[in-house]
Amino acid sequence: MKRTGGSDEAKRRAGEAAADRVTDGQVVGLGTGSTAAYAIRRLGRAVDSGLDVRAVPTSFQSRELAREVGIPLVTLDEATPDIAIDGADEVAGFDLVKGGGAAHAREKYVAGAADRFLVVVDDSKPTDRLAGPVPVEFLPGARVPVAAAIRDAGGEPTLRTAQQKDGPVVTDNGNLVFDCAFDAIDPEPLSATLSAIPGVVEHGLFVGMADAVFIGSESGVERRAPPLSE
Ligand code: A5P
Repeated sequence: MKRTGGSDEAKRRAGEAAADRVTDGQVVGLGTGSTAAYAIRRLGRAVDSGLDVRAVPTSFQSRELAREVGIPLVTLDEATPDIAIDGADEVAGFDLVKGGGAAHAREKYVAGAADRFLVVVDDSKPTDRLAGPVPVEFLPGARVPVAAAIRDAGGEPTLRTAQQKDGPVVTDNGNLVFDCAFDAIDPEPLSATLSAIPGVVEHGLFVGMADAVFIGSESGVERRAPPLSE
């Protein structure tokens, strides 16, 4: 689990800049974590001012915050997101490590369903190469074989332990999480390897999924997008 030390002001600028891209009538995927929370609060204020949006939350945390600020909620059964907005633990180009809050399984399928995926980070998150650790959510009964398969893939899994509770972190889906250290991360093949392990629910490598990255700092927001992207 990795949460680096960007300032709240940098997170706020990034989150709000992405929220300001949402237009009337859109469906929005709401990410999880401290930076996505700024986007959710900004959207709540926009809803107060008359913006018509509906949102798909990615966690207990983002659902509760969205309800608190008055954003109407829907599920993927009812609507497809036009935009998803979410934070990340590391960003290298348009590849991400996510899952510092153990919400990466829902975050990945909501971002994957969205037409556009906007990543919001403070300026401590961008890096030249992803270093991990990579969170891997797995079915509790598969702990031993999943750990063995991760070691076979060159990783060292550590069961994520809870704060203020004895034992492991249990995800919103009722599963457990390994934080997996690797000497080097080649995102695409490692993503495929981890996805193929029986018992793995989802891992935190998001390879090439981002359509834009908003990097907040104390002084402003830099927006990075791949060529040909809006
Ligand atoms: C949740 O599981 C994560 O993927 C978060 O989006 C990620 O850890 C970024 O969180 P912060 O914005 O709080 O750093």
